[in-house]
Amino acid sequence: MRLRAIAVATLLLDGCRDPRPAPSPAAAPTVVDAPLEPWSEPWLAEEGRRYLDEPAHRRRSLEASLTSPDNSYSRQRLDHYALSATGWDLLPVWNPRSVPLSDDTVTSLDSTAPLWDGVRPTTLAGWVALGRTVFFRYPLREDPFVEHALRRPELARAIGLVRAPDRTIPGAVRFRDVDGESKVGITCALCHADVHHGTLVVGPARRSFDYGRMRLAYHADTGAPVDPELARRMATWGPGRADVTEDLDEDPVAIPDLWGLRDQQYLTQAGTIRHVGPAALAIRQETQLLHSNHERVRPPRELAWALAMYLYSLRAPARPAGDPALVARGQRLFDEHCRECHSNAAGGGPLVAAGRVGTHPALATGHGRGTGRYRPPALLDVGAAGPYLHDGSLATLADLFSTARFSPVYRGVNGVGAVHGHRWGTDWGDADRAAMLAWLRAR
Ligand code: HEC
Ligand code: HEC
Repeated sequence: MRLRAIAVATLLLDGCRDPRPAPSPAAAPTVVDAPLEPWSEPWLAEEGRRYLDEPAHRRRSLEASLTSPDNSYSRQRLDHYALSATGWDLLPVWNPRSVPLSDDTVTSLDSTAPLWDGVRPTTLAGWVALGRTVFFRYPLREDPFVEHALRRPELARAIGLVRAPDRTIPGAVRFRDVDGESKVGITCALCHADVHHGTLVVGPARRSFDYGRMRLAYHADTGAPVDPELARRMATWGPGRADVTEDLDEDPVAIPDLWGLRDQQYLTQAGTIRHVGPAALAIRQETQLLHSNHERVRPPRELAWALAMYLYSLRAPARPAGDPALVARGQRLFDEHCRECHSNAAGGGPLVAAGRVGTHPALATGHGRGTGRYRPPALLDVGAAGPYLHDGSLATLADLFSTARFSPVYRGVNGVGAVHGHRWGTDWGDADRAAMLAWLRAR
């Protein structure tokens, strides 16, 4: 059968939002044998080509991917991204020289080639490999706090600056900055990779990483001034959490695991980004990199696309299977009571009004990235995903499903006080709860 080639990509990205009139018969699209299968390699190649080569497609994808056009994250992008004649498109493209920081090897930056050789990969495997390089080596920015902590090995250990088996420090690089200076910088791997039992794993949140404590140590040791209010807030973050919004709202969030992103309809915990297709993730990464580098330069878009392909390739580690009967019972209960929201293949789903979820509303209502809603997170390797909820306020899964946390004398991650919201499952009998926990831990 021969099918009309209305590219699936166009449907997915533009869907019914496309304001253009339907093509007239005279302008009928070319005819091909079959539409490309979403997420197949040819489909991703075509999506990549459009993201890289069509400015209008980038602009449309951006607009379609911003859940709430009025928060500051969206406004900033709408004002600067994919405008061709103005804004971030005019920034110089930066392909930095950067080497992993390591205990025992000192690689000279001058003898190191720029991170990318300037040649577009031709296979998905090639894009994924390039994305891994970006993940470990493209500097988000210079980071004097990390540089300082690395001079104090005990502090470095205490705040989660771990060493990989090859003795590099994942997430820390030495690089030649835009101003020509050699600096210590941070990369994605600082928060989104970890060393578990001596093995480097990419994708899990680095739950030991204490960004607030690291910055406070820098100020204490160097005497560099810090706003007392900010210092007070940083002291409360604790490991695995950081306030990544640039507003005055007090809304630290837990670093999320990066599992199952492909299946998520929304990205970030307040669902700031509608995941209309891979271009939405590539745009997130492109703008994150240029924004964190103080909007002086932008990354080659190929590197943002490569990063997206790499993120999609990450898989949660294998989980123990659990007792089959218990797990099956847990799955039935889950399908009946939880699937309504945790509906997609990764166990996440579309956004839910913050008032209905009932957890701490600050992130959802914040000016920075708020949408008024929360996104059900993926439930993959969720047994190891603590602390739980967007703000990491609960240490264990058992706590999440126990009524004890509603008591004012409950002692949780944030100290003494009730942790409200997400009441589903908390009123079940012990046997049902045990089954549901067994199912969750096996997912
Ligand atoms: C300092 C720690 C830190 C660094 C460095 C960092 N992230 Fe994150 N990342 C976070 C936090 C915290 C969130 C949660 C933000 C939210 O939900 O609003 C997050 C969210 C994300 C998400 C959304 C995940 C989801 O569940 O929807 C992706 C994708 C991501 N980061 C990728 C990256 C990439 C790629 C890099 C490097 C360019 C990077 N991050 C650098 C801390 C970090
Ligand atoms: C009405 C929608 C809805 C229902 C029903 C629901 N959830 Fe959720 N769930 C969410 C949202 C939204 C979040 C994120 C809330 C936040 O971070 O503040 C969440 C978070 C979670 C988390 C925390 C994951 C993490 O990594 O922090 C787990 C586990 C979970 N849900 C399991 C369940 C189970 C099991 C059930 C059924 C007993 C259930 N949920 C029912 C919407 C729902």
